[in-house]
Amino acid sequence: MTSYKELGLVNTREMFAKAVAGGYAIPAFNFNTMEQMQAIVQAAVECKSPVIMQVSKGARAYANGTILRYMAQGAVEYAKELGCENPQIVLHLDHGDSFEICKECIDNGFSSVMIDGSHLPYEENIALTKKVVEYAHAHDVTVEAELGVLAGVEDEVSSEVSHYTKPEEVVDFSTRSGCDSLAISIGTSHGAYKFTREQCTIDPQTGKLVPPPLAFDILAEIEKQLPGFPIVLHGSSSVPQDEVDTINQFGGKLPDAVGIPEEQLRKASESAVCKINIDSDSRLAMTAAIRKHFAENPGHFDPRQYLKPARENMKKMYVHKIVNVLGSNDKL
Ligand code: G3H
Ligand code: 13P
Ligand code: ZN
Repeated sequence: MTSYKELGLVNTREMFAKAVAGGYAIPAFNFNTMEQMQAIVQAAVECKSPVIMQVSKGARAYANGTILRYMAQGAVEYAKELGCENPQIVLHLDHGDSFEICKECIDNGFSSVMIDGSHLPYEENIALTKKVVEYAHAHDVTVEAELGVLAGVEDEVSSEVSHYTKPEEVVDFSTRSGCDSLAISIGTSHGAYKFTREQCTIDPQTGKLVPPPLAFDILAEIEKQLPGFPIVLHGSSSVPQDEVDTINQFGGKLPDAVGIPEEQLRKASESAVCKINIDSDSRLAMTAAIRKHFAENPGHFDPRQYLKPARENMKKMYVHKIVNVLGSNDKL
């Protein structure tokens, strides 16, 4: 058993309370590689921001859970080395799908876990979340739950069945499950293709796709039901068009990739939304830099030559999110 406290990590309780009160959101960046970890820590330290480093099931399969945990421990030490006296870094399990995986992470140094029972029937989601909460709280680990299914507007339209979070369920769900934060569905979705062409309008000036707005009315109703309760948004990459253009210019093929406009994420950050999940934007920043580097330097084959600009580009993106979108800078 390794407690996250021995590793210098923190849980989300205090940082979420401050974020909700202060009208900003904590960045939750997924990481799979050392370069992502370094870029996240450099950005957080430079901006004096708390940060959540999150690990998916896929990340555990790719990089190995133990290695990622040691990398998070290394992240704390690296932040100190970069001059941050009191880093506020959370190691979070993203989309945990069973009690067992949550327990394994809690027993191995994670300070926060998500139990994603959003695809289960309502009562089963509550029961599973409650079981995880009981174990996690006994170890002072915080728990994110999810209510409503992130599928995108397509399902809303085609099935005519709402997958958005139902505001009338949030009080019952959070009270009975005991979760510390709640991921909701208001129109975001995972990946770099969040909306189809048909769901978007076209900007007459640029010809680019303009996605439909998030369901801020549902968010407002949830806040009314659960005042001050920490709300989480998954699927919040904005899919920067300059990165997509760079990828396409240098041999990639990402037609019609589209994300959530940053103004909408900024608006959400000022509300009870206190954790915003970003993964795809990091993938795009890394890929764009590497494709460009290879195109301009066909003779390079030392990974450090192309991973360095990739790391720099990711750091630039993380800094931009922290300062210009989430507003979590200068909070340490
Ligand atoms: O929620 C999904 C995250 O972007 C993680 O993605 O499962 O491919 O690691 P992944
Ligand atoms: P994006 O695919 O929009 O980056 O979402 C990531 C996420 O929600 C991780 O849980
Ligand atoms: Zn997610």
